[in-house]
This record gives sequence, structure tokens and C-alpha cells, in this order.
Amino acid sequence: MSILTETFTLNNGVTIPKVGFGTWQMPEGAETQEAVAKALSLGYRHVDTAHAYGNEGSVGRAVRASGIDREELFVTSKLPAQVKTRDGATKTIEESLRSLGLDYMDLYLIHAPWPWATPDQSDDEGNLQAWSALEEAHAAGQIRAIGISNFAVPDMQNILDHGDIIPAVNQILYYCGFTQPINTSFAQDHGMVVEAYSPLATGGLLTDRTINEIAHAHGVTPAQVAIRFCIEQYVLPLPKATSEAHISANAQLDFSLSPEEISALEALPDSNFARSHFDSQR
Ligand SMILES: NC(=O)c1ccc[n+]([C@@H]2O[C@H](COP(=O)([O-])OP(=O)(O)OC[C@H]3O[C@@H](n4cnc5c(N)ncnc54)[C@H](OP(=O)(O)O)[C@@H]3O)[C@@H](O)[C@H]2O)c1
Repeated sequence: MSILTETFTLNNGVTIPKVGFGTWQMPEGAETQEAVAKALSLGYRHVDTAHAYGNEGSVGRAVRASGIDREELFVTSKLPAQVKTRDGATKTIEESLRSLGLDYMDLYLIHAPWPWATPDQSDDEGNLQAWSALEEAHAAGQIRAIGISNFAVPDMQNILDHGDIIPAVNQILYYCGFTQPINTSFAQDHGMVVEAYSPLATGGLLTDRTINEIAHAHGVTPAQVAIRFCIEQYVLPLPKATSEAHISANAQLDFSLSPEEISALEALPDSNFARSHFDSQR
């Protein structure tokens, strides 16, 4: 069985394909629609977008044109980080559904606990308001599972203490050398599936010497090692690619890493110099 049809089971019983196709920095238009269509034709069944990416329209068109039964596909989108009121969130969920052209989304996440402009200031009250809108949309059948993204331990605790539904997913920055062990363990210990965004460190990981040596030993590419690493940590990778060769290669993960290789990959230096990592160990 291809890794693309293997699934994790979320805490509400919904199954989620173990590898998702990332679409950040893919603009609305034909290029993105073609990349998603290519991914679906190559067997991907899980696509990750966000209201903030501005490409829900292209993702939705590719999904609807694929000819694949809707129940076989898993579509995630996200509530923009600055939307922190219940009414604002309800309106934005409707917008996402309209842009995607779908009756329901499989997963909807609060994109971040803080507005992007103030990444160190979580809005606890706003997150609870947004969460209640997600809970309501879930109850109404508009979203099959609800979750969070970029939430550190105190942000998760806020939802656990005051929300009615335990988040099904926390999607966080995660790659070899940057695995946020405190946030990852906390989320997993509380029943959330952790999703790895930027599993290739947005490309920064691919020239690292150690990962290249491990890839060479298995006859695969550094990207495949980085994606396989996530799966072996029970973390769900969301690799993004536009070239067909990359989209295809990223789904060929039929090899195993040894405990020594996993340790070496965990110990890599951080290779994503371009990004602020926020206060991700809070
Ligand atoms: N929740 C959040 O706040 C958040 C934030 C960031 C990202 N995300 C999600 O996570 C997804 C992935 O993260 P990301 O976009 O930062 O990037 P990534 O998946 O870590 O890396 C993508 C880069 O790696 C290249 N690449 C992909 N496969 C390759 C291969 N087999 N060999 C060599 N190069 C390869 C891509 O090139 P080509 O495109 O040229 O093929 C692209 O430049 C996003 O698209 C998004 O869905 C979520």
C-alpha cells in the first residue's frame, strides 16, 4: 500500500492520510491548480491550504475536477491568524467553503494563536472565541475535524481548559534539527496528531551533509529522508512541491531509518535561517 493512502486516526475517529500536499507560496491560478491536480493524479489524497494563502479557489477547482470521490479526499484550510472573534471566524469559515467550492472541509485550523503582526502575544480570549466558531461549524457538519496551528503549550492548555472539543491536530514548524520536542510531546500526550509544516525547512535542509549521507546510504534523496523522518516520529508531513519530479519523489517513502540515523537527524543544526521561529518552545 502506498504511504499516500495510509492514515492516522484523529481523536474523533476521522482518518487522515499520513502525507499531505502543502500549498503555501503557491499563487491563485493555473499553476497551483495544475500542481494540486498533478499531486492528486499521483495518488496524494490530502491537501493543505489556508485562507491566508489566497489559493483556496485553485485548490478547490483541482479537487472538484479530479474525478476522485470527495470522501476519498482530505482538504485542510485555516482561519487567518488575525481573526479572533466568533462572528469573524464564522464569516471566514463560510468564505473558505465558498472559495473552495466544497460543502465541507475535512479539517480547519486556527492558523496561529497570535495575529501575524505580534507573534509573541497570544490572544487567549480571541482564540476561545475563534474556537467556539470552529466547534459550531463542526457541529453543523461544515468541518469534520477542528484543530490549531503554531500553538505552544500555554496556547494548547487554554483550549483544553476552556473549549468543549479537544483539538484533533496541532500543525507546527517541524523538520530534522527543529522538532519542538516540548510542544510535540504535549500535543501528542493530549491526543492531537502533530502535523509537520515545512518538513524540508522550505528547502533549507536539502544541502545538509548528514542528511545527504543518509539519503545516499538508502539510495533516496534528502527530501525523502526528511519526510520519512516525520512519519517515523508519528508526525504527519506536509511537503510542498511544484515540480512533478519532486511531487512524485516525495511520496516514495518505502524505506526505514535506523535508530542511529533518527538520532543523527534529530541532532542536525537548524537549517532554516530565513524564518523567525517565534517563541516556539513556550
Ligand atoms: N501552519 C503554518 O503556519 C504553515 C507555515 C508554513 C507552511 N505550512 C504548510 O506546510 C507546507 C510545506 O512547507 P513549505 O512550503 O515551507 O516547504 P517545504 O515542504 O519544507 O519545502 C518546499 C521546498 O522544497 C522544494 N522541494 C520539494 N520537494 C523536493 C524534492 N524532492 N527535492 C528537492 N527539493 C524539493 C520545493 O521546490 P519546488 O516547489 O520547486 O518543487 C520547495 O522549494 C506549506 O506548503 C503549507 O501547506 C504551514
